[in-house]
Amino acid sequence: MAETAVETLTEAEARAELARLAAALTAANTAYHTLDAPEISDAEYDALKRRNAAIEARFPDLKRGDSPSDQVGAAVAEGFGKVAHRVRMLSLENAFAAEEVTEFDERVRKFLGHAGAIDYTAEPKIDGLSLSLRYEDGMLVQAATRGDGEVGENVTENARTIADIPRKLTGDAPQVLEVRGEVYMSHADFARLNERQEASGDKTFSNPRNAAAGSLRQLDARITASRPLRFFAYSWGELSAPLAATQFDAIQRLRALGFQTNPLTVLCDGPEAMLSHYRLIEAQRATLGYDIDGVVYKVNDLALQARLGFRSSTPRWAIAHKFPAQLAWTELLGIDIQVGRTGALSPVARLRPVTVGGVVVSNATLHNEDYIAGRDSKGEVIRGGKDIRVGDWVQVYRAGDVIPKVADVDLSRRRDGAQPYVFPNICPECGSPAHREEGDSVRRCAGGLICPAQAVERLKHFVSRSAFDIEGLGAKQVEMFFNDATLPVKTPADIFTLSARDAANPLQKLRNRDGFGEVSATKLFAAIEAKRTIPLDRLIFSFGIRHVGEVAAGLLARHYSLWEAFEAAITHASPGSAEWEELTAINGVGDVMAQSLVEAFQNPAERAAIDALAAELTILPVQARGLVDSPVAGLTVVFTGTLEKMTRAEAKARAEALGAKVAGSVSAKTDLVVAGPGAGSKAKDAERLGVRMIDEDGWLELIGG
Ligand code: IVH
Repeated sequence: MAETAVETLTEAEARAELARLAAALTAANTAYHTLDAPEISDAEYDALKRRNAAIEARFPDLKRGDSPSDQVGAAVAEGFGKVAHRVRMLSLENAFAAEEVTEFDERVRKFLGHAGAIDYTAEPKIDGLSLSLRYEDGMLVQAATRGDGEVGENVTENARTIADIPRKLTGDAPQVLEVRGEVYMSHADFARLNERQEASGDKTFSNPRNAAAGSLRQLDARITASRPLRFFAYSWGELSAPLAATQFDAIQRLRALGFQTNPLTVLCDGPEAMLSHYRLIEAQRATLGYDIDGVVYKVNDLALQARLGFRSSTPRWAIAHKFPAQLAWTELLGIDIQVGRTGALSPVARLRPVTVGGVVVSNATLHNEDYIAGRDSKGEVIRGGKDIRVGDWVQVYRAGDVIPKVADVDLSRRRDGAQPYVFPNICPECGSPAHREEGDSVRRCAGGLICPAQAVERLKHFVSRSAFDIEGLGAKQVEMFFNDATLPVKTPADIFTLSARDAANPLQKLRNRDGFGEVSATKLFAAIEAKRTIPLDRLIFSFGIRHVGEVAAGLLARHYSLWEAFEAAITHASPGSAEWEELTAINGVGDVMAQSLVEAFQNPAERAAIDALAAELTILPVQARGLVDSPVAGLTVVFTGTLEKMTRAEAKARAEALGAKVAGSVSAKTDLVVAGPGAGSKAKDAERLGVRMIDEDGWLELIGG
């Protein structure tokens, strides 16, 4: 049957056609990805996708909730779906020196109040990208990348193409099992892939890690399938039943269920054994056939892991002991000054390109002016006092993913007449004076929002993942709009007037611009609309005020709850005022942060930008944490006297995890005092103030053990 041309479809026909195409494409996807038995050719598949997209472009309102354009598995798909991790995917604290490993063990034992030795597992830290695999009733149902730890990308179809990842588990598994591990590529496979890429004129990858990431994050799972990816399992997320009582046994269990686990995983009875295994792994590093960048130690007893718990983004029960950084020498061609979001002038070394540990490096950070001059932040001499000059031979190093650094300078190769570097005291972007505050190692442009570099960096921060996270509006697009004559975006509020301004301009529509079309322009406007309603914590973080990071924004939002309350408090706060007292009484908010907030709200340009933005938004209140299911959430608790069943640190961490605030002294604001034997003046204060007092057992009973 001949197809009706998209241009001549009526609305009713288009609706029916979109339904037919969705069904046909779903069937084709299932046949291809799930049953491994394609029923139509790639060309036919692509033609269906194109027709679907063309109809959606003509009738954007008819786009289905389950539109094939939004699904992974074909070249025209626009992006990955998102997956909220039921158990957060964390990162690891790093150690570099042997003493830091000993200190880690001491910290663990101190936290637990454990005098004897503790067992740890030690295993290679694989240099790939982490992946969470969800199994239900033994079947792989979902695979997600780490993303920001809370929300990752749905790469299920891609994961299914990796031979090391079982689609079905062997043997008895918990009904729900999330297996976590690292996707990586071997050296040999990496070299072959790059040869293939080069032969076909495609881009080559700079290292196996990038190749693995680029291969997993393909919208077309057929490309992933053609890439030689591997997987080691080393951890887990949600579980309906425990895997084992120890880390080591849990890993054995994962192996029995069909996963690859690293053969260099061993059990150690303390720091000495850990360090000796570190040396063994380091000695084998070059011949393993895949990249590792250190050794991970984990407390073996899972009950102790549970007691140790987490800090904001890393577990207390594990640490990554990294291998020393990789080094190279090259010439310093010049020093550029970049101006950041808060006005900081950062010197960047432009280098003659050099390979450092397999990656070509042409820029490196020089930190600040003292560093260039040969001093640290306390004014003490570093590098034997050698300064760094343009034209010098410098040593560059990189450790992990962090940006490369200039470590040393070779004076024997310094050219005659080389001049010391003079750090600018005027902003190179806007000409405003650049000052250094007392005790600050950084020179800052005083221009604030009138400095184009600061303004654009603020906007980039504003749209970043933890702030407004507007799909289709990243750093690149922000820069484009910032410099755009027709639809300029100079402050965050301008983002929310884009669509109306575009509609009001009959001549140059966004959809007719380079890099945009009907669909992408409509999508962008919809993505912006979707963020017009925003929770208070994200809004506060999005301002990009110095010293006010994500954690602080959360504290402020939970304290004030409503935008109006927050805005009034900061507007009226000044040292000595009641608002100031309340602000600085928030656990985690100090004078420096409070001052920074107040200054931002008093600066006329900043204030105008904030007010204009707030006028565009619906700001959602934020609830105090944990109100739902903890009996101590929101309470201010003081521990005093000797605790016998846990250490002070553990008690504090548990209480905070349950949403309580732990204070050091008793006042009228204290809700509860937990007093052990030997409690002195604090118990008396509690009595005097009529604060409820319980003993350690009472506390344990209250929090449920
Ligand atoms: S355990 C809660 N074990 O390193 C801790 N991580 O820097 C979960 N990684 O995000 C991680 N090898 O991607 C663990 N043997 C290993 C690892 C490993 C590599 C990665 C992982 C993690 C990152 C943290």
